[in-house]
Amino acid sequence: MDLSGGLIRSSLARKYWMALTGLFLCSFLVVHLLGNLPLLTGSKEMFNSYAHFMTTFPLIKIVSYLLYISILLHSVDGLLLARSNKAARETRYVKYNGKANASWSSRNMAVLGTLTLVFLIIHMKSFWYEMHFGNIPTYITSDGDELKDLYSITVAAFQQPWYAVFYVISMMGLGFHLWHGFSSSFQTLGINHAKYTPIIEIVGKAFSVIISLAFASIPIYLLLS
Ligand code: HEM
Repeated sequence: MDLSGGLIRSSLARKYWMALTGLFLCSFLVVHLLGNLPLLTGSKEMFNSYAHFMTTFPLIKIVSYLLYISILLHSVDGLLLARSNKAARETRYVKYNGKANASWSSRNMAVLGTLTLVFLIIHMKSFWYEMHFGNIPTYITSDGDELKDLYSITVAAFQQPWYAVFYVISMMGLGFHLWHGFSSSFQTLGINHAKYTPIIEIVGKAFSVIISLAFASIPIYLLLS
C-alpha cells in the first residue's frame, strides 16, 4: 500500500484533513475577531499594535504559515471531495433527493466554501498584501515606535458601501458553512457520543451565528458611523 499517498489522497484521509484544518481555521477566526474589535471602539493604536505584532513576532509567523497551508489544503480537499461525492451520487442514484435527508448548509458546503475562498483572496489582497508589501503610511506612536497605519486603511475600505455589503454577504456564507461544518468535523474525527454530540451541535450553531454576526457588525458599524 502506498502509505504516503493513502495518508493524503484517500477520501477518508481527505475528510480527516478537512476536519482538522477546518477546526484550526475556526480557532483562527476567534483570534482574528478579538484583534478586530478595536475597530469598534476607535482604538487606532491598539489595532495597529496588534497588526504589527501579528506580522513581525517570530512565533506568530510560524503559525501564519500553518494557516496559509490549512486554507490551501482545506480548499483543495473540499473541492476534490465535493467533486467525488457528486460523481458517486450520480452513478448510485437515478433520482437523488438530497433535500430529504440533509440540511441546506450541508448540501451547499462547496458553494459556501468557494464564496469564502473568493472572500479570503480579496480580503488578503486588501489588508494582508498591503500590510506586507504595500506602501501603508507610517506614524510615530506616543512611545516612539513606528507603526504602519493599517487602521485608517481598514476604516476607509469598510466605509465603501460595496465593500461593506460584500463583506457582510461573505460573513453570512461563512456562517452557513460553519452551521454544518463545526459539528460535522467532530463526527469526522469519530467524536460521537449520545450525551455530548447534541451539545457540540448547539455550540457549533451558536459559534457560527456569533462569529459571522460579530465580523459583519464591524463594516456595518463603520459604514453607518
Ligand atoms: C475560514 C474559513 C473556513 C472555515 C473555518 C471552514 C471550516 C470547515 C469545517 C469545520 C468543515 C467540516 C469538516 C468536516 O465535515 O469534517 C468544513 C467543511 C468543508 N469546507 Fe470549509 N471552512 C473554511 C473555508 C473553506 C473554503 C475556502 C473552502 C473551499 C473552497 C471550503 C470547503 C469546504 C467543503 C467542500 C467542506 C465539506 C467537506 C465534506 O464533508 O465533504 N471551506 N469547513
